[in-house]
Amino acid sequence: MSSSDLANRFEKEFHAKPEIFSAPGRVNLIGEHTDYNDGFVLPSAIGFYTHAAVSPRSDRRLVLRSTEFADVFDFDLNHLPLRRLDSWCDYMVGVVWALEQAGCRCSGANLLVHGEVPIGAGLSSSAAIEVATALALLSLSQEEIPLREVPRLCQKAENEFVGARVGIMDQFVSCLGKEGHALLLDCRSLNFELVPIPADVKLVVCNTMVKHEHSGGEYNRRREQCEQGVRLLSKLFPGIKALRDVSTDQLTAHADALPPVIYSRCRHVVEENQRVQEAARCFRAGDLAAVGKLMRDSHRSLRDLYEVSCRELDVMVAAAEGLPGFYGGRMTGGGFGGCTVNLVAASHTETFRREVALGYERETSISPEIYICSPANGAGASVGSKVRFTASETPEGITRSKSN
Ligand code: GLA
Repeated sequence: MSSSDLANRFEKEFHAKPEIFSAPGRVNLIGEHTDYNDGFVLPSAIGFYTHAAVSPRSDRRLVLRSTEFADVFDFDLNHLPLRRLDSWCDYMVGVVWALEQAGCRCSGANLLVHGEVPIGAGLSSSAAIEVATALALLSLSQEEIPLREVPRLCQKAENEFVGARVGIMDQFVSCLGKEGHALLLDCRSLNFELVPIPADVKLVVCNTMVKHEHSGGEYNRRREQCEQGVRLLSKLFPGIKALRDVSTDQLTAHADALPPVIYSRCRHVVEENQRVQEAARCFRAGDLAAVGKLMRDSHRSLRDLYEVSCRELDVMVAAAEGLPGFYGGRMTGGGFGGCTVNLVAASHTETFRREVALGYERETSISPEIYICSPANGAGASVGSKVRFTASETPEGITRSKSN
């Protein structure tokens, strides 16, 4: 749906002209399950966006519609639900809740959302709807919230309202991603660097079409296991606050102090943090073969040590091996289904797409979806907006300027 189609549909539903705010999904190149351990990640925004069309209301009601779902929600902003409704609107209501918690009084609004990010594929459709909603509501608000706080606000919405204990990566890159670049993020300080991705390689994202039912519970369990590792290790090394602070030497020297499963989880995180920084260096040096090797190592570690892969992801990863133009690939996102990400020479993407799909379908009888992506821009106003959200490379992160 084009933005003018969305604007037309909005006008039909709400009899007002909207402004449209858009935020993308993401693919993570490397650095999995490191964000909630205060570690490093290297994601890119991709060109699937969620658009939030918005207009102000004179009362304190929040009316939410979606182009994909028939239900309409009409809330009184003074009496918002206190917990999730198990519906698509949870992410939006969560953002309102988080904004109000942060001291920002939201004004009444009509919102119509349209999502392009495949749902349940591990490409962060939830971060995209959160960020688009936050920007839409902030554009109506008289109160200034520094935009560098938007990723944290959206994360809070998802952690505390929706109930998923996700890290900061998805919301951050959805806000600050930049065309042609991956974003090397330090999830503790939130300092970041943009890492150029050569124009002649594509990020080929292969959707297994599998979403494991218990992934939410398993995700939270992995977090608890990491926290248990930190508790045990901090008895030996009092300075340790998160797995980010643990070195390989410290971990291997005290392997006996940890139950075997906890040791495996910790080892993945500690080594993955090193791989992320190494991958950023290799991208800068133009050594794509070395990046590819790090991606393969990451996949093995997620499969064997962190145990968040599944048969379909392993089959999809294996189906890419040996194809011309392929540098390396791995599962991406939380795991237990979803997608793999593959670094592929642009000139070979069509053969790659065909061969991987054939190989995967032969083994699983599932027909995959394959998206050929390039690193895209993060969130911003697109249509008819007076408010511009711009990403800057300063440690300050996001700045906002009004152009009237
Ligand atoms: C999900 C979460 C992220 C991150 C990844 C795993 O995508 O939303 O915060 O933890 O899993 O790397």
